[in-house]
Amino acid sequence: MCGIVGYIGKKPAVEMLINGLKALEYRGYDSAGLYISGEQCVRSIGGVDNLYKKLPKGISGTAGIAHTRWATHGKPSEENAHPHSSPSGSIFVVHNGIVENYIDLKNALEEQGSVFSSKTDSEVIAHLIEKQIKDGDTFEESVVNTLKIIKGSYGIAVMNTQEPEKIIAAQNGSPIVLGIGNDEYFIASDVSAIVKHTKTVLYVKDGECVVITPTSHNIFTINLKPLNRKTEEVVWNTEQVKKGGYKHFMLKEIMEAPEVLKNSARGRTLRETGDVKLGGLEEIADKLTHTKRIVIVGCGSAYYAGMLGKQYFEEIAGIPTEVEIASEYRYRTILQNKGTVVLAISQSGETADTLSCINEANNKGCLTIGVVNVVGSSIARAVDAGVYNHAGPEIGVASTKAFLSQLEVLLLIALYIGRKKNISSSEGKIIIDEINKLPQKITRVLAQNKKIERIAKKYAHSKNFLYIGRKYSYPIALEGALKLKEVSYIHAEGYGAGEMKHGPIAMIDESFPTIALIPSDSVYEKTFSNIEEIRARDGKVIAIATQGDKKISAIANDVLEIPQSLELIHPILTTVLLQLFAYHIGVHRGHNVDRPRNLAKSVTVE
Ligand code: G6P
Repeated sequence: MCGIVGYIGKKPAVEMLINGLKALEYRGYDSAGLYISGEQCVRSIGGVDNLYKKLPKGISGTAGIAHTRWATHGKPSEENAHPHSSPSGSIFVVHNGIVENYIDLKNALEEQGSVFSSKTDSEVIAHLIEKQIKDGDTFEESVVNTLKIIKGSYGIAVMNTQEPEKIIAAQNGSPIVLGIGNDEYFIASDVSAIVKHTKTVLYVKDGECVVITPTSHNIFTINLKPLNRKTEEVVWNTEQVKKGGYKHFMLKEIMEAPEVLKNSARGRTLRETGDVKLGGLEEIADKLTHTKRIVIVGCGSAYYAGMLGKQYFEEIAGIPTEVEIASEYRYRTILQNKGTVVLAISQSGETADTLSCINEANNKGCLTIGVVNVVGSSIARAVDAGVYNHAGPEIGVASTKAFLSQLEVLLLIALYIGRKKNISSSEGKIIIDEINKLPQKITRVLAQNKKIERIAKKYAHSKNFLYIGRKYSYPIALEGALKLKEVSYIHAEGYGAGEMKHGPIAMIDESFPTIALIPSDSVYEKTFSNIEEIRARDGKVIAIATQGDKKISAIANDVLEIPQSLELIHPILTTVLLQLFAYHIGVHRGHNVDRPRNLAKSVTVE
């Protein structure tokens, strides 16, 4: 996720663009840049304030494009910051999204003599547009023809020094909104960047392009067919807009689940062969496939993601795997040697304990791998190889969307290894089909939000909660309990459903509710018996079950549902229900769920 702003009108563009970028900083903040027509392109590492400090005085141009970056390809640096320009410096591009076929395109352009100045996937867009113009295309044609060549997702804005009073923008999977003011036009990734100036907007759709000049706007398809679209009036205030209309970042980020799951898997699955493609692991693929042992380290939610990762690695990749809390692992005697692969999971890539495990493993000569969300972070730099989550910046302190993407990425890694070992192409295809169906299935799960809110209110007064689950659901029970503790400050315990009768059942009475994860899986009957044990002691049960499970509604007090899927996909589907449940209880109890007391987003102390 990154942020785009464009302005064309009568006022100095710099001010418009900088203010717009500030409003979009929540989408990315590792580097920023802008191009003002007829003047210059300035880029800097760090947030928008750094960019502002770097701008020379007296830039008065009235048209320009700007970008705040959240790195996906190429570390955060000045060269990798947008706008990117074409070889002759005539085309400037800002881009959100991922160009999946950029390596092939870049190789082809390099063979024809192009020299690239960044490590990004985005720079190829500027090169291709310039090439099309040289081949005789108009500016508009060059953009649409380039968009037909690139694969993946984009929101882009382009300027051409030959037509300084024109900005072309386009969307496919990464949003672009057009703002219409008095003798001025804006484009942006979302309305928060422009709502101060105009409330009249037009939401560009996938496959559509828009051209703005100081006096006009035109919208057309990628085949240059003109469109007649109606404008809308924005009713939100600036703060609401930043949160996409949601009350809290936490809710917004939970609701982003379909997009997050798409982005984490985008370009990484090959349906025809049942294979997984993970560029970040290519160089170490052989070592990884033949390792005898994997140790996963992480803290908080990342550790629970690792617990599920262990099951995936053992069952799909056939590699014995241990999971360790990073703050424990680093202080005890550890038997790791050159043959051990140490895999760190971390949203921020900065958690001190996790980083220290990686440093220690590097010293011992182990192969180290990262599953990290923040590109260029300390852990991402310290590991030998890795896979980025591409979940976009997470603002809510308690991890939600990053955790979800960690589960998906771990499944992809397991299948990546498994396909090189015992997993057949047809088995691979079955899993890949389910991964590809996840965004659509999770949308159905999220549609229960109102019902979850009702159930949450009903139980919000409880002083304790027990979360139970078995097999794939066990780590999710632990994560569900953690989420509730974090945002509602209610005591909650996660337990293996079968282990529950060795202790926690003593606490159960009618005031001590249990959240039971009981999808239709290979341990369904066992978990069902555990629920009966709780009900026999008057304990209330909120069951998370598979759609169509009539048996469970007869015994549980409340039921939330997930669609049918493969057993190993269930935890990804159940996770969002538990996140929403915790969210609503936290909000109902009046807490700031985005910034729970005593917690920090990135724990850089030991
Ligand atoms: C903090 C956050 C948690 C997160 C944990 C690990 O405690 O509040 O949400 O799971 O750190 O963070 P990491 O960035 O390493 O995933």
